[in-house]
Amino acid sequence: MRVLGINALIHDPAAALVMDGRIVAAAEEERFSRRKHGKRPIPFSAWELPELSARWCLEQAGLTPSDLDAVAYSYDPELALSAEQLGLKDPWDHLRQGYARRAPEFLAEALPGLDPDKVRFVAHHVAHAASAGQAAPYPDSAVLVLDGRGECGSHLAGRYANRELTVLGSQSLPDSMGLFYEDLTQHLGFLRSSDEFKVMALASYGTQRFLDQLRQYVYLDGHGGFRARPIPWGDTRRAAPEGGAWTQDYADIAVSAQACLEEVLLGLARWLHDRTGEDVLTLAGGVALNCVANTRLYRETPFRRVWVQPAAGDAGTALGAALHVANQKEAVEAMPTAALGRGWSDDDLRAWLERAAVPYEEPDDIAETVAAELAGDGIVAWFQGRSEYGPRALGHRSLLAHPGHAPTLATRPTWNASTP
Ligand SMILES: [Fe+2]
Repeated sequence: MRVLGINALIHDPAAALVMDGRIVAAAEEERFSRRKHGKRPIPFSAWELPELSARWCLEQAGLTPSDLDAVAYSYDPELALSAEQLGLKDPWDHLRQGYARRAPEFLAEALPGLDPDKVRFVAHHVAHAASAGQAAPYPDSAVLVLDGRGECGSHLAGRYANRELTVLGSQSLPDSMGLFYEDLTQHLGFLRSSDEFKVMALASYGTQRFLDQLRQYVYLDGHGGFRARPIPWGDTRRAAPEGGAWTQDYADIAVSAQACLEEVLLGLARWLHDRTGEDVLTLAGGVALNCVANTRLYRETPFRRVWVQPAAGDAGTALGAALHVANQKEAVEAMPTAALGRGWSDDDLRAWLERAAVPYEEPDDIAETVAAELAGDGIVAWFQGRSEYGPRALGHRSLLAHPGHAPTLATRPTWNASTP
């Protein structure tokens, strides 16, 4: 079975291809378009599709759109409620639902030859869950998904037994740990739905003096869910200061919110362990990109292993949706590596360097050459094999510098010098 997965609606558009139960390719649109996150997450961009990455996935396997058995779209508009019903302030959200309903026609237009009847809608959090529980190298696991929002929720807790999902809990909107952190990011003057990792780094410089205040709005409900209503940040929202001179207040707010997030995640994970008794916890959803919280989940819950989908944000739902649809017909295999994107051979690279008239050399011992460069305070752009799926640099696309030589990284604020 040949299934193309598509994430398109909100942010991080991406495509993935699963053939005969095997993951063949997966990549985010940003790697082709060079637009970070593919697009801004506004309702007016909801119609945009990951056309470049989808075409590349097909080319990678020598397929045309007419060869596909299914296209799995990681959002199901039939499950959605209106923004008013969900308690969200998003007056143009109905555009998203309209575009999602018409996704089969949009996809058929973008991929000539595709039969629009082959498009299957997959519930957003089921797609996230599959990107963890079906992609992980464990057939059985407890799975926890937390993000900004799906059709009408922000959380899924479940169990995969032999790669089949049972949903055990969920949290409806407007309560959302992802939106809580996005609001915080915006409040601190960063770009929401993009700069959350900077807030996580800033948190390491603060003290938790706002934690008790935040706990009034963000807390566990005792039944496997939580409350996370919009925080009345008041009129303290400020633009990012020129020159990066963030005050101590910023770090104190950041760490208080980070601690609040961690408390909720630990509670949800312990609740899930009580229900499942599983050894393995698999994670997906944008909140699972918070590696500080993930470390606490590993250290402080009874789960013995924690596996995080590297494309934990919405990009990963392209893969999850494809795995979910494929698994209904045939057994799917775990993700063999995160390096599922584009790659170039040495011959390709030589040809491009020569075409661009860039001088180059091929050292006998690349490790020695790179080590000498780093020791001399240089910066190395490490480029090897196929690119990673998701935002993590896992050894294939990395910028390397000596961590003890801060001046090398002086273009970043000190608190952000070596963050993900
Ligand atoms: Fe999501």
